[in-house]
Amino acid sequence: MHNAKAGGTQNEFLPFSKPCLLKEDIDAVTEVLQSGWITTGIKCQELEEIFRTTVGCKHAIALTSATAGMHLAMLALEIGAGDEVITPSMTWVSTANMIVAAGAKPVFVDVERDTLATTAEKIEPFITERTKLIIPVHFAGAPVDLDPILELGKRHNIPVIEDAAHALGTYYKNQHVGTKGTSIFSLHPIKNVTTGEGGIFCTNNDDLAERIRRLKFHGLAVDAFDRRAQGRSPQAEVQEPGFKYNMPDLNAVLGLGQMRRLSQTNERRTRIAELYQELLRDVDGIMPLKIPTHTSLHSWHLYIVRIMPEITGLCRDEFMETLKDYGIGTGIHFKAIHKQRFYRETFPGLNHLGNTEWNSERICSLPLFPDMPPQDVSRVVDAIKETLKQKGSIT
Ligand SMILES: Cc1ncc(COP(=O)(O)O)c(C=O)c1O
Repeated sequence: MHNAKAGGTQNEFLPFSKPCLLKEDIDAVTEVLQSGWITTGIKCQELEEIFRTTVGCKHAIALTSATAGMHLAMLALEIGAGDEVITPSMTWVSTANMIVAAGAKPVFVDVERDTLATTAEKIEPFITERTKLIIPVHFAGAPVDLDPILELGKRHNIPVIEDAAHALGTYYKNQHVGTKGTSIFSLHPIKNVTTGEGGIFCTNNDDLAERIRRLKFHGLAVDAFDRRAQGRSPQAEVQEPGFKYNMPDLNAVLGLGQMRRLSQTNERRTRIAELYQELLRDVDGIMPLKIPTHTSLHSWHLYIVRIMPEITGLCRDEFMETLKDYGIGTGIHFKAIHKQRFYRETFPGLNHLGNTEWNSERICSLPLFPDMPPQDVSRVVDAIKETLKQKGSIT
């Protein structure tokens, strides 16, 4: 361990992410446990209501994960064999996996080198008559330039679903992402708000919302709570085979307090990100992502830097290992999907995506969470400088 050398304030392991939970959140979970109703119910409805207001959309549907939301989106849009879905390769594997699970083909597009955002210009050449859906990603908490992508979708009559897994509290042109159409948020433990696991499907489309509600609970026209309220009413019949993706109240309740505190916790994330920006400004070979100009508010889900082996003499994996020796956790968001075994072997001849591949080798997410003290940002940067010094790339 090199902690002493790093001049850190603590000797404990510093994780790269940590949920921001208060005693009142834990008490609220206990209350649900004691209430006699722990699956989908009132708490889920409350969480959906907070999402409707925060995002500014008509419908919000609580699910067990964002991945479940992607799966149901494919089914609701009747995407299947012979269809293509466009998404960046620089995203979490779940999106591509759900496209494949639906029987369709993922068509991977490149991203901008310094923001990891895809663009309408990068998407357009890949549109064919088989394209059934476009899934842009609001990466790391910065908004994608959505308007041209929505415009492109409209022109070709192709729906767009925003992957907003990273983007709770992200504003694009002064509106919360997801306001304009259909979006999916994640409430996984590293996200800005967590319910343990969870996802929220947001849409302004009434028919789509109705279909998602039905598909998330066995294809019944009612959900678990309606059944309790109404008994086994005649309308509780299978309309189509569905899944079991309803969020339990036990999970939903954990998110309520965090949603109310979202602007404060995102503000704390912003302060940490600003401190990193300042302390890393003069560190050669460590390149933070750039903030897209159309960002009204960044939710700072992740703080990502690129390790430049050409300058530092270190590859990203060595860099991460060394930080681990200093007691500092890091992450990779993400390794290019089109380079992963299943995708390489199943879809030979996938496009070369220069910026994605360049970043895939270099990106590293540094610790960032609302309760992280500023001294720990210094601790991370000191450890980085020490690491580079030992490699001889800085003096
Ligand atoms: C960009 C992106 N999309 C989708 C997901 C899937 O979210 P979940 O874990 O809630 O299924 C993730 C999760 O990390 C993600 O980062």
